Amino acid sequence: METTPTQDEWNARTLALLEDAYLTAPDSRGGSGFTGDAARWQHARRVIVSAIDRDGSFFDVGCANGLLLESVVAWAAEDGHRLEPHGLELSAPLAELARKRLHCSADHLHVGDVTAWRPARRYDFVRTELEVALEHERRDLVQRCLAELLAPGGRLILCSYGSSSEPAAPLVAPLRQWGFDVAGSAEVSEGGTVITRVAWLDQPGIS
Ligand SMILES: C[S@@+](CC[C@H](N)C(=O)[O-])C[C@H]1O[C@@H](n2cnc3c(N)ncnc32)[C@H](O)[C@@H]1O
Repeated sequence: METTPTQDEWNARTLALLEDAYLTAPDSRGGSGFTGDAARWQHARRVIVSAIDRDGSFFDVGCANGLLLESVVAWAAEDGHRLEPHGLELSAPLAELARKRLHCSADHLHVGDVTAWRPARRYDFVRTELEVALEHERRDLVQRCLAELLAPGGRLILCSYGSSSEPAAPLVAPLRQWGFDVAGSAEVSEGGTVITRVAWLDQPGIS
């Protein structure tokens, strides 16, 4: 009988599966786990910026080689919002690539596991995928991001990624089932299949 892995075992599996593939990918999109050209990247990922409604700090959980951060900053600027990029990555060599891409130091782009990492500050926007945590720990991951990473009044942006053959997993229904108030959602399709879903939760501000 297969036993449930620990988070450390889950992280080791993630690194075994992704790290080499991302580091040796033929282009920068592959270094973030994406297959396709720049136009497909923009089609699949620009939808994340639907959740950006003001200027602020943007923290990417699992920032890989930093391409999403770079892209989100540029797309938000086109929409009139200035974002300051920050991130966390399990893989040290990928985090190093992200630092080079964004000309950032280790106090902007950190190495660590989001389920255990202790932030030295809070962020206005935090983006993550649920898959960075074990299935039975995903509600706790959302709670942790809201309670420990977000600044008061901040916005947690959950993403789910699919492909043309496998639709992105639902987000809104599980989040509601776990008792969270979903403030908004967006999705993008390719050939009739949803390839990216985004849902966001707002942290109550201080009144
Ligand atoms: C699919 S890539 C996402 C790249 C980019 N942020 C995007 O949204 O396109 C997921 C990244 O999350 C990282 N990751 C996985 N589990 C993590 C964890 N527990 N803490 C921090 N990063 C993690 C992986 O190493 C991988 O680089």
